[in-house]
Amino acid sequence: MSSQNHIPRHVAIIMDGNGRWASERGLPRSAGHKAGIDALRRAVTCAQDMDVECLTIYSFSTENWSRPKAEVAFLLALLKRFIRQDVADLHSKGVRIRVIGAREDLEPSLVRMLNDAEQLTEANTQLTLVVAFNYGSQQEILRATQKLAHDVAAGRLAPNDITMAHIEANLETAPMPPVDLLIRTGGEERISNFLLWQCAYAEFIFLRQYWPDFDAVLFEKAVATYQSRERRFGGLKAKSA
Ligand code: IPE
Ligand code: IPE
Ligand code: MG
Repeated sequence: MSSQNHIPRHVAIIMDGNGRWASERGLPRSAGHKAGIDALRRAVTCAQDMDVECLTIYSFSTENWSRPKAEVAFLLALLKRFIRQDVADLHSKGVRIRVIGAREDLEPSLVRMLNDAEQLTEANTQLTLVVAFNYGSQQEILRATQKLAHDVAAGRLAPNDITMAHIEANLETAPMPPVDLLIRTGGEERISNFLLWQCAYAEFIFLRQYWPDFDAVLFEKAVATYQSRERRFGGLKAKSA
């Protein structure tokens, strides 16, 4: 199936390179994270303009706790500030907010803010913005497996009746479509424990630009590259007309 002229339904972004963007300017890493928020706002607007259904952004990985305490505290504070400053505007634009990742490790006041943002925007239909915070894909798959194991142990499900749909339904991204396009900024070409299951047939685009420099031009170019690729899903090349 060719993706020619098709807008990807689900775009996922690994927003990487904030620290290096700041270092190159002689600024503290935190300045890069702050500038990254403006890039995020540009990405959301652009996704909406292009009629993308779902935009999932990687804002904090389960592995990011290993960073210095001060940086972790800054990133947590930045998420709070983003929620406080941007949710009303996103809501007025019809954006539905979802948060994925392990919430139980976060402080109760932050969890409340995340729950409130989800509830407020629940009925919106314009764009689903999925914020992956304290997210790790292997941990997500592990949790799905544990849930299914409970069902088996309770006699609700037979082991041989477990299907891919059961696993998908127990991932936090259910019922979102699989990722069509994964963009990673910052020059690294790896997936860093992000949406491993959901990216099974995603097209990957790695950009050398750091996240704070991400804008509509880069986003539209990435979508154009996606559209120029032929997605085969294991089949054969489509016959040219
Ligand atoms: C991405 O930028 C933001 C997070 C991982 C939270 P980095 O902070 O990883 O920036 P670099 O990769 O060190 O430049
Ligand atoms: C991935 O970036 C996580 C986020 C963008 C939130 P990292 O900077 O943490 O990834 P690695 O360590 O370079 O793989
Ligand atoms: Mg990084």
